[in-house]
Amino acid sequence: MATRSVRTIDPAYHKLLDQESRPIPESFRRDSPIEPGPTFVPVKRYYSKEFFDLEVEKIWKRVWQMAAHEDDLPDVGDYLPYDIAGLSFLVVKTDENEYKAYYNACLHRGRKLREQRGKQADELRCPFHGWAWNIDGSLKQIPCQWDFPGLKRSEQALPEVKVGRWGRYIFINPDPDCEPFEDFIGDLPSHFKLLPYEKRYKEAHVAKIIPCNWKTANEAFMESYHVIATHPQILMGGAHDVDTKYDVFGNYSRAIRCGALESEGMPQWPPLPDDGKMRLRNPLNGFVYERIEEGLVEVVSPDGRKGRFDINAKCLEGDLTEVNPHLVNWAGGPQVAQTEFDKAFAEKAKKNEKKIHPRVLAAEIQRESLREVIPSIADDIADIEFTSIFFTLFPNFHPWGSFNKINYRFRPHGTNPEECVMECIYLAPIPEDGKYEPCREIHWLGIDDDWTEAPELGMLAKVFNQDIRNLPLVQQGMHATAMENLQMADYNESKPRHFHMLLEEWINRP
Ligand code: FES
Ligand SMILES: [Fe+2]
Repeated sequence: MATRSVRTIDPAYHKLLDQESRPIPESFRRDSPIEPGPTFVPVKRYYSKEFFDLEVEKIWKRVWQMAAHEDDLPDVGDYLPYDIAGLSFLVVKTDENEYKAYYNACLHRGRKLREQRGKQADELRCPFHGWAWNIDGSLKQIPCQWDFPGLKRSEQALPEVKVGRWGRYIFINPDPDCEPFEDFIGDLPSHFKLLPYEKRYKEAHVAKIIPCNWKTANEAFMESYHVIATHPQILMGGAHDVDTKYDVFGNYSRAIRCGALESEGMPQWPPLPDDGKMRLRNPLNGFVYERIEEGLVEVVSPDGRKGRFDINAKCLEGDLTEVNPHLVNWAGGPQVAQTEFDKAFAEKAKKNEKKIHPRVLAAEIQRESLREVIPSIADDIADIEFTSIFFTLFPNFHPWGSFNKINYRFRPHGTNPEECVMECIYLAPIPEDGKYEPCREIHWLGIDDDWTEAPELGMLAKVFNQDIRNLPLVQQGMHATAMENLQMADYNESKPRHFHMLLEEWINRP
């Protein structure tokens, strides 16, 4: 066994936990770093149709995958198609607290049974020639059955795939010989003890087609290494360049972005004037970005050079020509309304005479708002639970931890290896009074829509504009590169490394 030379932030992280005044759930104390070593991933895996087809056979037809949420199917007879890589399944609520999933195809000549979500069906009738099944999958009717000599009705039930449940999510697995769902997810639920996923409801669901391979997008949301260049504005509020703890466990991995650890040589800059203008600084090189008007940003370097840029970071005038496109987008792109949290945070930060760490201030505000929703536990929540904690359950599901609402899923779009569907689902705590109105419909954005057209995402919409700006260019770069392999960081890319180790294992299964 290799010695663990992998660099971790575990000691600094545990010191941070020691400062907490509230009890820390045991799961936060677990250290399970990935085995050290670089990871090389063949670039072809991101665009080759041959590899895509291999993934269909070896992964999508065999793995447990998140297919629906109970809030999608509130009543008996409700159904939801789940499409993945050219395959399609139909998840149906067949009884109170019972769900089944069928191959979404008619047993006659194969028409897809359902194209979209439907409500309170008492049968599933194929729109082509009218074959019909009861919602429990048993055959109901075949028009002109006399014309099918030898057909045995008992053999014409809708073929089912396996169903597993975690929290209020419904997973499916098309492989009849798959391992039990509970074995597959392992002890993942033990990280969600204070607010289990059983106690959350779907507050928002936004989806968009992205012109890149599903893995390209999947991996872009697994690590916080990219925050340095893609979201530099996040580093301004007291976070540092090296502050995320990564662990891997069985089929899932975890990142905890502490926002409070020692910086590895981040330069220090004087504060920006507080004159109400939309202005931010790139902490890496000190350049200041100021919004002049929608679509126009002025950037000034520490040595006084200036330039004006459009929203795509194209230089319009000035002697400064090279700037960070993501910060130009942040300052000059469409803005979103300030959330209650942002307002409260700005207020608290202004009055912060005791110089309390921003992450502690942020936790206080979140505890206050949760006091109205889940009063019995709100005050017991440690600061660390309010930070960004993001899990990845192989292959494509990303439930965020503790009190963060975010969940992601990335699926191939049809059979095109160079397109995927990105979904962001917000799961909010179910209020203790039991009253909530869940989101039932997916809000689909057009391929060219700005993410701020989904205002239900709040500030995250602007963060996505930065992330998603990279992805088609990553995809294009993979075709352009002279390299055969991508290379991944030993520690900061622990999660994508873990993903590729599992992918390799699944692809090579007999
Ligand atoms: S294809 Fe479904 S009834 Fe004919
Ligand atoms: Fe990001």
